[in-house]
Amino acid sequence: MTDKPSHAAYLGPDYPHWNTTLSDGSEVLIRPIGPQDAAAEKAFIESLSPQSRRNRFLGQIAHPSDEFIHQLTDIDYINDVALVAIAPEGAGYRIVGVSRYAIDSSRKDCECAVVVADKWQGKGLGTALMECLKTLATERGLLSMRSVDLAENWEMRDLASALGFHSSPDPSDPH
Ligand SMILES: CC(C)(COP(=O)(O)OP(=O)(O)OC[C@H]1O[C@@H](n2cnc3c(N)ncnc32)[C@H](O)[C@@H]1OP(=O)(O)O)[C@@H](O)C(=O)NCCC(=O)NCCS
Repeated sequence: MTDKPSHAAYLGPDYPHWNTTLSDGSEVLIRPIGPQDAAAEKAFIESLSPQSRRNRFLGQIAHPSDEFIHQLTDIDYINDVALVAIAPEGAGYRIVGVSRYAIDSSRKDCECAVVVADKWQGKGLGTALMECLKTLATERGLLSMRSVDLAENWEMRDLASALGFHSSPDPSDPH
């Protein structure tokens, strides 16, 4: 039998948006990502420093393929949820951060990830993106969120600890 998500769990076009003011006074809009964001998402990933890209993707993805961008932006909002923080740029906008989760097979837990544009780090945006994601996960009845990160990624450890997450070394990975 396939689990059918409740109506409350799938909010469709009524998905919430958050207007957020960061610690330096700049303002961003946090909202669900969609296929219309494909070009902005590609530009966002390509603009990340090699270190941020490595920390986020656990490897180098300098030039993401169209298929990969499609996977990141065409979200079902049933099993997967992804939020973007956008800032105005010229007549349009640019993505300055993304948080996402994917429900695992237990349908009670999820794996999450977050990334913030290098120049926007340290202003509270990672916290805001994760708080919004946590709100949605809680509303949908998920019991835990998990993220697998490089041991040297102290920024993520600090963010996780500020959010009240528990961190532990992977016993199967000597690194
Ligand atoms: C991890 C990451 C998302 C944090 O985003 P951020 O917007 O810089 O985080 P915040 O500004 O909300 O900071 C959250 C906490 O982390 C710590 N922190 C983060 N960046 C910091 C910095 N440059 N200097 C000092 N502390 C920092 C602080 O303890 C902060 O807590 P505080 O608000 O009580 O001071 C960001 O560093 C990033 O995008 N890294 C690359 C991708 C990545 O590693 N993702 C995680 C794996 S999926």
